[in-house]
Amino acid sequence: MGITERLAAPSRDDLASLQQLVVESRWNQSPEDWDVFLRLGTVHVVRDEAGRIVASGAVLPMGASPVAWISMILVMPARRGVGLGRAVFGACLRQIQFEGRIPMLDATPAGEALYTQFGFRPQWRLARWRREASERDARNAGLSRSLQRQPAGEALQGLVKLDAAALGFDRRTLLEQLADRRGSVCVAGGEAAGLVREGRTARHVGPLLARSEAAAGPLLRDIVDAEDAALLIDLRDARPLLRATLEAAGFRHERPFARMALLAPGQVLPAGDDALLHAVAGPEYA
Ligand SMILES: CC(C)(COP(=O)(O)OP(=O)(O)OC[C@H]1O[C@@H](n2cnc3c(N)ncnc32)[C@H](O)[C@@H]1OP(=O)(O)O)[C@@H](O)C(=O)NCCC(=O)NCCS
Repeated sequence: MGITERLAAPSRDDLASLQQLVVESRWNQSPEDWDVFLRLGTVHVVRDEAGRIVASGAVLPMGASPVAWISMILVMPARRGVGLGRAVFGACLRQIQFEGRIPMLDATPAGEALYTQFGFRPQWRLARWRREASERDARNAGLSRSLQRQPAGEALQGLVKLDAAALGFDRRTLLEQLADRRGSVCVAGGEAAGLVREGRTARHVGPLLARSEAAAGPLLRDIVDAEDAALLIDLRDARPLLRATLEAAGFRHERPFARMALLAPGQVLPAGDDALLHAVAGPEYA
């Protein structure tokens, strides 16, 4: 049987097997993230002869907008290089093109090499920064906790509004799901808003939105000063002030990503205000 014939749709019973892909690839998603893709989107997988999932890809529609996000393109390390990544990616792309939507994604360098072959082009670049818990302790021991937590609902409204203005589409349902999880913290104030949520190996900061890079700085400082756990943030490259804030707080550059889109003739991206978006919700979420 060819790879395309082995493509299938998983169910919630496959959560452990899907999460094994994340663990073996050392990504940060949790089973709760897979649950989002199974409930709000579509997951395509390839199984091996024993029925174990060895490759995945997900499509997440961005609310009522024409955009659909391609996420979780993952192949078991021992199974890479034989066409499985191309197969799951192709299944996601065919679905989106059949629906007449615009496919977008945040690509790792290995992913970018594949997606470029399908005509995807980078819109801008970003990078993952990481701070281990021990690094925080060494640098910031004794710092006061200054994160002003607003009532959760109020902060979330601020976040959803800025996020929609930044992207040009509303993804309230997704942001509510992320904010409602145990351990999530939503903060907003002074024309800036941000979200921190649990991950498999580190808490993830993002999205981070603000009227300007200068306005995002104090909120980012408050967030990283208040967090004791290991932290990740996916920051746009064209944000030198925020990068300096992260470096001063003990973050290190981990890996680059490229935001990519594939536009068919006549398609245009939703009109957002790019300047508002500083760190993304996660490469898997836009
Ligand atoms: C990226 C990934 C999904 C590719 O899956 P794969 O099954 O190994 O890829 P395929 O065998 O289908 O190869 C498809 C193409 O991808 C490109 N490619 C794959 N891995 C690459 C790498 N490490 N560096 C450069 N190009 C790579 C090649 O151009 C290849 O085309 P070719 O067959 O003409 O040489 C897989 O390496 C993986 O899971 N990596 C870790 C997770 C990741 O980065 N996912 C992408 C998220 S955006």
